Amino acid sequence: TEQALKDLFAQHFRIGAAVNPRTIRSQEQMLAHHFNSITAENEMKFVSVHPEEGVYTFEDADLLADFAGRHQMAMRGHTLVWHNQTPDWLFEDSQGQPAGKALLLERLRSHIDTVVGRYKGRLYAWDVVNEVIADEGDALLRPSKWLDIAGPEFIAKAFEYAHDADPDAILFYNDYNESHPAKRDKIYALVKSLLEQGAPIHGIGLQAHWNLFDPSLDDIRAAIEKYASLGLQLQLTELDVSVFRFDDRRADLTSLEPGMLERQAELYEGVFGLLKEYRDVISGVTFWGAADDYTWLDDFPVRGRKNWPMLFDAQHRPKPAYDRIAALF
Ligand code: XIL
Repeated sequence: TEQALKDLFAQHFRIGAAVNPRTIRSQEQMLAHHFNSITAENEMKFVSVHPEEGVYTFEDADLLADFAGRHQMAMRGHTLVWHNQTPDWLFEDSQGQPAGKALLLERLRSHIDTVVGRYKGRLYAWDVVNEVIADEGDALLRPSKWLDIAGPEFIAKAFEYAHDADPDAILFYNDYNESHPAKRDKIYALVKSLLEQGAPIHGIGLQAHWNLFDPSLDDIRAAIEKYASLGLQLQLTELDVSVFRFDDRRADLTSLEPGMLERQAELYEGVFGLLKEYRDVISGVTFWGAADDYTWLDDFPVRGRKNWPMLFDAQHRPKPAYDRIAALF
């Protein structure tokens, strides 16, 4: 078999994959061969571990943490505060009225205590706050129940609670479209203000949900430079390269078009060239999946449309992109 990614990058950064209870079985061999880190794709999100007040469900999350332990892999935690996959009860009081700020922050503290505390010493990093920056317009923050009820303070509070629960964990702010100049500048402004407030934040996660057309390598480089200027470590946390433009909603494409794999290989080569160049600030690179037999992009943004975003094909064989990357390291 081909050389392991984790050996290629051993001197530079951890290499990870998002997994779930199905893929740790169906991809076990190649996961163990290539990766030294995992992230739970859904199983540590709020609604997964804390579906009702006072009810914690850790079975699937534990299964994945045990998998990491068995294979001596590191694990990142994902995620504590998000506007998606978060249960409604959190934002309501016992009368079914909107929860007040004190109640919401108290619930957040107790959630973070319990979840981060449970995996203390097993997870080395957490995506504490996910996707709070607004994509469009002048507003810095996305509208959400978090913001409505608690105001912007919930962000710094989440970092404080996470740091209290595990002072050794590396704490990240994580977002997508992170390389688009306007959103990049807003992410920068948010993290800068958190640092100025003394919030315990240690890294920025660039989700890196990219495609063959966007973003440009110049934009990625500019984003890395700007975020690194804050003195924090950076990770790509959810890397994939879709073969479709984001606004391409055609649903009838069932096979790769000629040239797609070659273009994807070129793009991946460019990306890993940058990662090598900036290896001193980049501490981890995690793919959002591992091979083309399973990717969330098969259902997003077009439900049921196959995509081919990974370095390995559906049979777990290296694609042209793998060869280009291997030649670089
Ligand atoms: C996605 C999962 O991959 C899907 O299975 C789920 O249905 C929705 O969430 N940004 C994130 C991830 O931070 O948590 C998302 O994961 C992908 C986008």
